[in-house]
Amino acid sequence: MKILITGGAGFIGSHVVRRFVTTYPNDQIVNLDKLTYAGNLENLRDIEHAANYKFVKGDIVDADFIQNLFETEQFDAVIHLAAESHVDRSISNPIEFVMTNVVGTVNLLNAAKTFWKGKYDSKRFYHVSTDEVYGTLGEGTEMFTEETAYDPHSPYSASKASSDHFVRAYHDTYGMDCVISNCSNNYGSFHFPEKLIPLSIHNIKQNKPIPIYGKGENIRDWLWVVDHARAIDVIFHKAKSGSTYNIGGHNEWKNIDLIRLLCRIMDKKLGRAEGESAKLITYVTDRAGHDLRYAIDATKLKNELGWEPSLQFEEGLEKTVDWYLENEKWLNNVTSGNYQHYYEEQYQNR
Ligand code: NAD
Ligand code: DAU
Repeated sequence: MKILITGGAGFIGSHVVRRFVTTYPNDQIVNLDKLTYAGNLENLRDIEHAANYKFVKGDIVDADFIQNLFETEQFDAVIHLAAESHVDRSISNPIEFVMTNVVGTVNLLNAAKTFWKGKYDSKRFYHVSTDEVYGTLGEGTEMFTEETAYDPHSPYSASKASSDHFVRAYHDTYGMDCVISNCSNNYGSFHFPEKLIPLSIHNIKQNKPIPIYGKGENIRDWLWVVDHARAIDVIFHKAKSGSTYNIGGHNEWKNIDLIRLLCRIMDKKLGRAEGESAKLITYVTDRAGHDLRYAIDATKLKNELGWEPSLQFEEGLEKTVDWYLENEKWLNNVTSGNYQHYYEEQYQNR
């Protein structure tokens, strides 16, 4: 199979590319990424010379480029992760999110529709989405299931909800083989330090304030990114056409409790007195439209396809802290902007 993975230079995409390149040496993996601020080819340094891997720089919003790519590469499947992914950026610049997340997704669907015509049964379009499409839960014990009605609140989640609807529409209207998964918050290595966990690790290390929105009482359901990549693998290979799966860690944390745990781990790792890092906690103005609680019911994925998370959160968080402390160069390159030259150095003259 020749598989197009979009957004493979990002956080989750790089873990998915690594998993597919190393687990399926007989499949060809093409990683298409625009290399926005969130795309970093250093995330894939360990597999960039693999015989079954190729990187293509390009924009999914460019319909002609996408059509040409499908024509020349003759893909058998798409795993679509490319997106603008940060809620705060969507609040300040919604149109970018419409272009990449909605128009970009429809461009990919259109190219697949054209080039796979007459062969829809043997081709697959897998769309990677988020639990944020379901909106927010109250403080009780209710969870998002695959039947929960869509109710997005941020421009980011509205754009992802829209792209999910288009993917379903292409399945229902044209008979294309489409699959969607909606996952909760991921954490782990190669996570861009604008998101809560890597930003906090970076700031604690630098003795800078840790910004906590509102009262820190919002709840997220955290999953180790490697477990998300495992879930994508199993869904891609085993799910029925037209199906949707929720993916989650069954691991809810109030932001403030998570940050206190992180501070304790960082104190230990940095040899600081207990309670030292927590002094950096700073309450700041809340995010506009801030969803209170996300929690995923991943029973369907467990019962039908046998997937379960492999790692406990405390262990995973400690592993993540270790990774950031051991990969100071990666973090420095990201925060200084140096990582954006990696493409010119490694790829342009190949
Ligand atoms: P990310 O921001 O780290 O990476 C996104 C990647 O997409 C980057 O490499 C970027 O360069 C690329 N990209 C952006 N615009 C593009 C364009 N126009 N053309 C081609 N490439 C483009 O995101 P992430 O956190 O790895 O998320 C990946 C996917 O998973 C997204 O679709 C996101 O909605 C979804 N998701 C993320 C989480 C999470 O916790 N991070 C949870 C559930 C679902
Ligand atoms: O639920 C899945 C989603 O998780 C993905 O679809 C998104 O792409 C991903 O970015 C993530 O969205 P969140 O908004 O939940 O993640 P973020 O790390 O930005 O914020 C996590 C929580 O922490 C949220 O309640 C906001 C809060 N927060 C965030 C930042 C960056 C803070 O309190 N301070 C911060 O500085």
